[in-house]
Amino acid sequence: MRVVVLVSGSGRNLQALLDHAAAGTLGARVVGVVSNREDAYALTRAQQAGVPATVLPHRGFADRAAFDRALADTVAGYAPDLVVMAGFMRVLGPGFIERFAGRMLNIHPSLLPRHRGLHTHRRVLEDGDAEHGATVHFVSAELDGGPLVIQGKFIVPPQHTEAMLGAKVMNEIELKIYPQAVAWFARGALRCEAGAVFFQDRPLTAPLGMPHLEEPFR
Ligand code: GRF
Repeated sequence: MRVVVLVSGSGRNLQALLDHAAAGTLGARVVGVVSNREDAYALTRAQQAGVPATVLPHRGFADRAAFDRALADTVAGYAPDLVVMAGFMRVLGPGFIERFAGRMLNIHPSLLPRHRGLHTHRRVLEDGDAEHGATVHFVSAELDGGPLVIQGKFIVPPQHTEAMLGAKVMNEIELKIYPQAVAWFARGALRCEAGAVFFQDRPLTAPLGMPHLEEPFR
């Protein structure tokens, strides 16, 4: 299973995937990393792991569609079975998404469909939400709107700041549920067909939860 990871930032999720791949628990190989930012620390992580990386700055392109096409060609050049968006901060157009339909995952730091878009931890505090967490979903043309795969959640602790919530979501949830979702996809336990998610050959009517995590991902 060949995985390409799209990044723009620090790459903590990328690191978790690289670590599980190296440990043999992912059932997949990260064959390429693509960043739209040349200063992304994720690129250093790729280099340290010996994974080829490509930088494609979006500023160099006439319009969104031209960037989308170039990005899709770059990604396709790695011949991926799965495309994993891990903190990739560009909205992708339908041209890109249709090309990798059913084999593209994203992680979002909220309990989707709540809080699509940016600043999720701040909005949880502003709205006084009782619960918070993160979601892995298949990517559709709608921003943060594709079919849900797995969510991890917790009760928002009193006195938590935006930064504390961000760290809790990342360390306790994202770094566990994302490698798990990729491992399921790699072994054929997870698939998406015509916008519907199947887990172990049964259609999912609600996202999976943390109790589904297998030993290496807990
Ligand atoms: C994560 O919070 C992820 O959910 C969001 O962007 C952030 C990326 O962080 N889409 P990192 O680059 O994996 O450290």
